[in-house]
Amino acid sequence: MTRNSSALDTAWAALRAHHAGLASTRMMSLFEADKGRFEAFSASTDGLLMDYSKCKVTVETRRLLLALAEAADVQGFRDRMFAGEAINLTENRAVLHAAIRAPKGARFTLGGQEVMADVLAMREACFAFAREVRSGKIAGAGGAFTDVVNIGIGGSDLGPVMAAEALRPFHDGPRLHFVSNVDGAHLADVLKGLDPARTLILVASKTFTTIETMTNARSARTWLARALGEQAVSNHFAAVSTAREKVEAFGIPASRMFGFWDWVGGRYSVWSSIGLPLMIAIGPERFAEFLAGGHAMDRHFREAPAEQNLPMLLGLIGIWHRNLCGHPSRAVIPYAQRLSRFPAYLQQLDMESNGKRVTREGEPVSMPTGPIVWGEPGTNGQHAFFQLIHQGTDIIPVEFLLGAKGEDDPAHKARSSEVDSGSREDFAFEKALSAHHPLLVANCLAQSQALMRGRTLAEAGGNPHRVFPGDRPSITLVFERLTPFVLGQLIALYEHRVFVEAAIWNINAYDQWGVELGKELATKLEGPVLTGEGLETLDGSTAGLIRRIRGE
Ligand code: F6P
Repeated sequence: MTRNSSALDTAWAALRAHHAGLASTRMMSLFEADKGRFEAFSASTDGLLMDYSKCKVTVETRRLLLALAEAADVQGFRDRMFAGEAINLTENRAVLHAAIRAPKGARFTLGGQEVMADVLAMREACFAFAREVRSGKIAGAGGAFTDVVNIGIGGSDLGPVMAAEALRPFHDGPRLHFVSNVDGAHLADVLKGLDPARTLILVASKTFTTIETMTNARSARTWLARALGEQAVSNHFAAVSTAREKVEAFGIPASRMFGFWDWVGGRYSVWSSIGLPLMIAIGPERFAEFLAGGHAMDRHFREAPAEQNLPMLLGLIGIWHRNLCGHPSRAVIPYAQRLSRFPAYLQQLDMESNGKRVTREGEPVSMPTGPIVWGEPGTNGQHAFFQLIHQGTDIIPVEFLLGAKGEDDPAHKARSSEVDSGSREDFAFEKALSAHHPLLVANCLAQSQALMRGRTLAEAGGNPHRVFPGDRPSITLVFERLTPFVLGQLIALYEHRVFVEAAIWNINAYDQWGVELGKELATKLEGPVLTGEGLETLDGSTAGLIRRIRGE
């Protein structure tokens, strides 16, 4: 099958009419009419549950959305991605990040060539390096590395940062630090207090040209060489990149470079050697579990029937909210402190992928595309922006993420580095901590309930300020515990959701031309900012700001 434009027109028209027909239906009444609504509007795979019953959708909505996906040939497009076709057509590249999390025995080809041998060899090289850093076999001038600093930005930073935080209980290697911002304060604050003789610096940049990363890397090299001498650089640095010559020109030997491929987009690269800092922190075995979680979601996406397929459903609900209901943003609220950077990670994944205004053929799109994605962990968000989510004038669909079991559960900790020493004081503290989780769960569920139910004027005692309109949608994703496997599942779920939405909008989710203009202009402005020259060629505002900043 291919994308069928007349079937698409029919599907959109049917959805619009159906949406209009639901205008006076309240979500609560859907629950009253169907005692099995939760079961009917939830799906799960490998212990990960997605409940979308608190969205205003019916069996007919789902049928029509699935018909839309079929008309857009989402499944055919999915198969073309997994088959290694150059679906990133503006860069003429395949999109094969699923290969870099696939196990031995999986088959992925590119232009007729098998890629798994290269993938597995690179993975093994990273694992070997991680093992030797962890064991102290690869050591610094002052002994085993105690600290690892990852310098990268965007896809070369957000994934490892987010995952390192999410999997904190599994850290049993050197301490991890991340520097991304070109603001020197970031590097200075991270390096302060570190011992250069026991610090390993990873420079992560697919292109090895990104100005922020290269500026930070050069300054970090100065910091290290000042303390240990220029000759120490090659031993205290490693690189993750696809640009061998540039890495070597920087002074990092090829033996310390871990590569990946141009068919892995930066924001899809956490599974590759970009995950090296995480491999060092949690060890190759745990990292392999993380890959297994991503791969399990790939299989689910390829094999599960559409009406039970989590990425398909999450994508279609996204389309429903964006294009039929007209909601401009969506909030992702993890009720899991360790997922605190997950919304930031999703911002790049989703908005750099689907923030597009022309179709794959370069024509203006005919409907809104990627929404604004944002969020913070609950319960903190409740004491900040939830006011607007409940009573503001825009409706913002919320995606809640929740663990069934508390992270402090002793059974969980037995598999991590947080095993307690067994003293009575520790036991008392554990007991105190275990009381937190029910409270966290209750808060998460209360928010989705409040969004749906609302509060009428009568219930609010006639006070309009205390009225909640309700009927506001949310999805809840429930996992057992935040393990490496579960984190892998979650990331791959959201990657494929982005894919499903992009396929329906007919946009290319795999390029990012929208970040280029700012980069070019920044390069041109560096001179005027430094010297104050050439301001007459600039617009009045930019010139005025430069004069003010230069104190002229
Ligand atoms: O922000 C644009 C971008 O190209 C991202 O897509 C990418 O993840 C990031 O810059 C970093 O790029 P690199 O890994 O080449 O330094």
